[in-house]
Order: sequence, then structure tokens, then C-alpha cells
Amino acid sequence: MFKYHYFETLDSTNDTAKSFPPFSVIHAGRQTKGRGRMGRVWDSFDGNLFMSLVVPQPAVPSDYSFITSLSVALTLAPLSPRIKWPNDVLINGKKISGILLETAPEQSDKLIIGIGINITACPEQTLYPTTCLKECGVDTNAKVILDKVLQNFEDVLISYQKSGFKEIRRKWLEFATGIGQPIHVQLPNKELTGIFNGLDEKGALLLKTTEKEYPIMAGDVFMI
Ligand code: BTN
Repeated sequence: MFKYHYFETLDSTNDTAKSFPPFSVIHAGRQTKGRGRMGRVWDSFDGNLFMSLVVPQPAVPSDYSFITSLSVALTLAPLSPRIKWPNDVLINGKKISGILLETAPEQSDKLIIGIGINITACPEQTLYPTTCLKECGVDTNAKVILDKVLQNFEDVLISYQKSGFKEIRRKWLEFATGIGQPIHVQLPNKELTGIFNGLDEKGALLLKTTEKEYPIMAGDVFMI
């Protein structure tokens, strides 16, 4: 379904992906200006996986955050991964993969899905503890993992097209971490503390505080 393009070095696979048509996958052996969510830097160590998928702009772009994190979790299934809302994949409570959804302002007909997976090196990120496949005892390489992510993404996409978001949400929840537990949610302008009360039907995180239940569409979650 996807056409594969490999580059030795790119600033960011997400930037290059913006000039490719839907159903392209961009893979870089080395990334010099990797970006993360919320304007953060994504430390891109050689040997790790840096890839971006281009898909036609969907009606509900946030559904792809769940489709993609589910595909990564399925790829890492033998290591009992968990997904931390909205789309971080964790192994043993440490982040191994991050996902960045972007739309080029002048090309709103496409959605770019950037996926980073730590294969041989664990970036030292201050926000969350991190791990990599090597640290988990898995000896592999970026291309092997890319092929598996792509296969899972295609399968999950078919299930989404057939059965809708409800089915994705159900499968995603099987990997979710922190439900029913106390969390902090860092929003752009404030921090809220409460119980992670599951997802609403659109995928918003439901945070039950002492006052009310907030549906949260974007933010950083910290387990307490
Ligand atoms: C995050 O968790 O903050 C998201 C990280 C996304 C990193 C990937 S690596 C491939 C693609 N290119 C980028 O510049 N970022 C994404």
C-alpha cells in the first residue's frame, strides 16, 4: 500500500514527507533536526528508527494518533508494551517510541505521521525515562522494525476503514496505561491533577478532578 523512500541523512523525515504524495513512507538513516510533540527536540541517535508516513488528510486526524500508536504497540507486542495517552509507547514504564502528527499549512490535503522508535540508543530526555530495544535485549535494526510497523499500520487501517474508530479505541485500550489511576496533565497554560477516567468516544482523555470531569484533547500525561 505504501511506497518506500530511503534517505541517508535528513533534517526531519516529517519535513521531507511533506513533498511526497499520500501513501509514501520516508525513512532516514540519520536525522539531524528531529522534532517532538509540543515543540520539543527529538534526540535522533544513529541506529534508531526515524520514519514518516503520508496519508490523505483524514476527516478526524486525531484518530490516526490511536491507529499509529496501536500499530507500534502491536509491533513491540512480545515486550508487553503499554501506550501512554495520547500516543507514547512504553516498555517497562519507559518511553521507547514517540509519534508526531503534522499537516503542512499549504498542503492541508495530507497528514504526516512521524514515528520515532529507539532501537540501539536511549535518548536522555528529561521529561520521561526512556529505553531502547537493545536495552530490552532485542538485537534488530531500524528497517526490520519499519517493515513490521508498516504491516501493522496497514492492517489497523483496514480495520479502521471497516469498523470505524470504536474498534481502534477498544484495541488501544487493551494497551493503555494509567486508567483509573491518579495523573497530572500538563496543558499549554495549566496543570490539572485527577483520575484518568478512560477515553470518550472521540479519544479525548477524561480527567476526573474533585470539581468535574474534563475531556482533554492535547497535553502531556504524568503518572503520579
Ligand atoms: C514525541 O514523542 O515528542 C514525538 C516524537 C516524534 C519523532 C519522530 S522521528 C521521525 C519523525 N521526524 C521528526 O522530526 N519527528 C518524528
